[in-house]
Parts: sequence; C-alpha cells; structure tokens
Amino acid sequence: MAQTDALEIRGLRVAVDGKEILKGVDLVVPKGEIHALMGPNGSGKSTLAQTLMGHPRYEVLEGQVLWKGENILELSPDERAKKGLFLAFQYPVEIPGVALGNFLHIAYQARTGQEVPVGRFHRQLVQKLKLLDMDPSFANRNLNEGFSGGEKKRCEILQMAVLEPEMVVMDETDSGLDIDAVRIVANAVNRIFAESQGKMGVLIITHYQRILRYIQPLHRVNVMMDGRVVLSDGPELAERLEEMGYDFLEKRLHEQAGFVKEPSGSD
Ligand SMILES: Nc1ncnc2c1ncn2[C@@H]1O[C@H](COP(=O)(O)OP(=O)(O)OP(=O)(O)O)[C@@H](O)[C@H]1O
Ligand SMILES: [Mg+2]
Repeated sequence: MAQTDALEIRGLRVAVDGKEILKGVDLVVPKGEIHALMGPNGSGKSTLAQTLMGHPRYEVLEGQVLWKGENILELSPDERAKKGLFLAFQYPVEIPGVALGNFLHIAYQARTGQEVPVGRFHRQLVQKLKLLDMDPSFANRNLNEGFSGGEKKRCEILQMAVLEPEMVVMDETDSGLDIDAVRIVANAVNRIFAESQGKMGVLIITHYQRILRYIQPLHRVNVMMDGRVVLSDGPELAERLEEMGYDFLEKRLHEQAGFVKEPSGSD
C-alpha cells in the first residue's frame, strides 16, 4: 500500500541505451529518516538517482516511484523539483555566466512559488553560507565555474539548505572531499535535517563509511547489487561492509534461497 509520507520505489526496472541496469529495485525512504545506499561500482546507484530526477536517457521498463501518492515517473524534472525532490550529483554542472546567489534566488522562488526581495534572500543566503563554513563572496561567483571539487560539493549542500526540499538524494556528495570537508558536509546535512523537524527524507549514496560516521541520525543502510536492493539493515551494516567487502556479502547472499531471482521468464 502506498505511503503518502515516503518516497516509495516499487519493482523499478530501468534500461540505458537498451541495456537493463535496474532489475527490480524496491526501496522506501520515509520522511523523517536518513538512509544510505551503498554497493559496488556499476551496481546501478547513479542510474537510480538519474531515474529519480527524470533524466531522459533512462528508460523505465517497469515499476513505480511514488511520492505524495503520485507516480512521479510521469512528471518532468521541473515538476519533480517543485514537489520537493532534490538531487545532488556525483558530477555537479557548471553554469557559466550565472552567479550562484542569483541562481539560488530564482530556484527558490520557482520551488516555493513566492517572490522574495533580493535583499531579504541575500541575508538568508549569508546565514546558510555560514552554516557551511563558506565565504559570503561565494554568492557572487558563477555557478561552479572554477570551483574546486570540494567547493562544488559544498555548493550542492548550500542549494539543499536554501531550497528546503522534502526528499533529498545525494549521489556521492562525499567523494573528492578532504576529511574536514566530509565532516562539514555531514554536519550541514544533520543541521538541515534537524531543522526540517521530520519533514525531510534523505538518501545518501556513498561508497564510504566515513561520511556515514558523521551522519546523525542514520536510520538505515541499503545495499544495491546488480540492479537490485539486496540487503537493508541498521547503521552498523556500513561498518560490516567496510570490514568484509562486497565479494563476501555476494557469496553469502547467493547461498540464501530467493536471491538469484530472474526478473521474468524463468521458473
Ligand atoms: N549508456 C550506457 N550503456 C550501457 N551501459 C551503461 C550505460 N550507462 C551506464 N551503464 C552501465 O550501468 C551500470 C550501472 O552504472 P551506475 O553508474 O548506475 O553505477 P553506480 O552504482 O553508480 O557505480 P559507481 O559506484 O561506480 O558510481 C554500469 O555497469 C554502467 O557501465
Ligand atoms: Mg555512481
């Protein structure tokens, strides 16, 4: 049964350039919870993130993504954003000639449908920059142009702080960050989450336990392998994965009945 206060992914099968990558993903991220999605290279994590945001290259073969009681797969990326979905990417884009502050002002107004005077918006923006330990001059720089990898990632978090989304998907926002920056990003996520008072859900896609160590609270760790979520458990699962690696886990799962299940056709 559909939950109206959760992002619900049901039996999602997705192909890229004719090749099936997601082979029946089931995952529920309720509002008010922070989930992690881990898994080996090429297991389909970014494919899931891109599909959630509505990238046209990703062909949905089957399944549903329910959000606020609606199958969002039928909505444009823009409509999804207006409904409070936010995706931070592994490789953030550069938009030359657009100042970060102006971009955020426009994005905020589009998201909320409210006009906010520039001065007031700027004051709010400076507060958010402080939260991320970013220099206020950042607001005047062009979006991601000439930003270091770590600065781009912090910008994504800044966007998240400004847009006040209800469901956030972060695809490897921690990769390429030094250890201090990982902590700053994690703390910012914690603050934004706490301020949302249960109105926001978060899905953090990551390879590393290091960011998850700082995420408080972390409700669940889900593991994707070969296009399916094969395991879901409490936060200690991230530690276990770091210790034993995916190979070991894969063997264990294959030993369990029901794991090697073809999506269709085979009895
Ligand atoms: N255009 C394409 N044509 C064929 N296969 C593709 C295409 N794009 C992606 N894939 C494949 O889809 C699989 C899943 O890729 P995806 O980027 O979703 O993995 P990931 O779990 O995010 O990996 P990583 O941890 O390395 O970021 C990979 O095997 C990849 O090679
Ligand atoms: Mg990826």
